[in-house]
Amino acid sequence: IFSGPVTFLKSAPKLEFLPDPTVPEIAFAGRSNVGKSSLINALVNRNNLARASNTPGRTQELNFFDVGDPALFRIVDMPGYGYAKAPVKTVQQWRYLINDYLRGRAVLKRVFVLIDSRHGIKEVDHEIMKMLDNAAISYRIVLTKTDKIKATEREAVEADTMTKLRKHVAAYPELSVTSAEKKGGIEDLRGAVLEAVAS
Ligand code: GTP
Ligand code: MG
Repeated sequence: IFSGPVTFLKSAPKLEFLPDPTVPEIAFAGRSNVGKSSLINALVNRNNLARASNTPGRTQELNFFDVGDPALFRIVDMPGYGYAKAPVKTVQQWRYLINDYLRGRAVLKRVFVLIDSRHGIKEVDHEIMKMLDNAAISYRIVLTKTDKIKATEREAVEADTMTKLRKHVAAYPELSVTSAEKKGGIEDLRGAVLEAVAS
């Protein structure tokens, strides 16, 4: 399925632009620049389907991608949070959009919350996890950019992440450990996505 057709469906800057909820959805969330768009590209074996960029805050809307033709499920690239230079108004709008999307989307099966393996879970990550807990959406943590750290550092961040996850109720107690750059952990992540879609 991941090497078959994957197409950009639409971009939703506001709730009224969401596509009809006809198939299951899984979403990628995480701090600005954590590697959401890059990981989606690696997942579906494309170079620039989801637009990745060095500029934090590149993705500002919910972007929907159809996987399969006809679509079996949708991948949602969410706008990044926690970007210090984002205008207050933008942050507010993002909060409303995300909150409404999470609360009202019956087809949303799981959110993959991406954490930069160099930084671990931060306060803003706890905030999104609380939003997910409150909306009763199950989620799974994905460590990104592991090509940038040593194996020993990776073990430490994995342990720290597991400890911090225990504060939350809707978190899946497993981690995906990935590198979009080196294509590490992508096969496992595909498995986790398919499992979520079928749940
Ligand atoms: P926003 O849309 O701004 O929230 O960012 P994003 O989370 O979608 O991040 P994006 O995929 O655009 O990647 C941000 C930067 O990190 C880009 O310069 C990527 O090339 C880089 N990057 C992403 N994944 C990896 C990875 O696994 N390894 C390395 N070394 N760099 C990565
Ligand atoms: Mg992006």
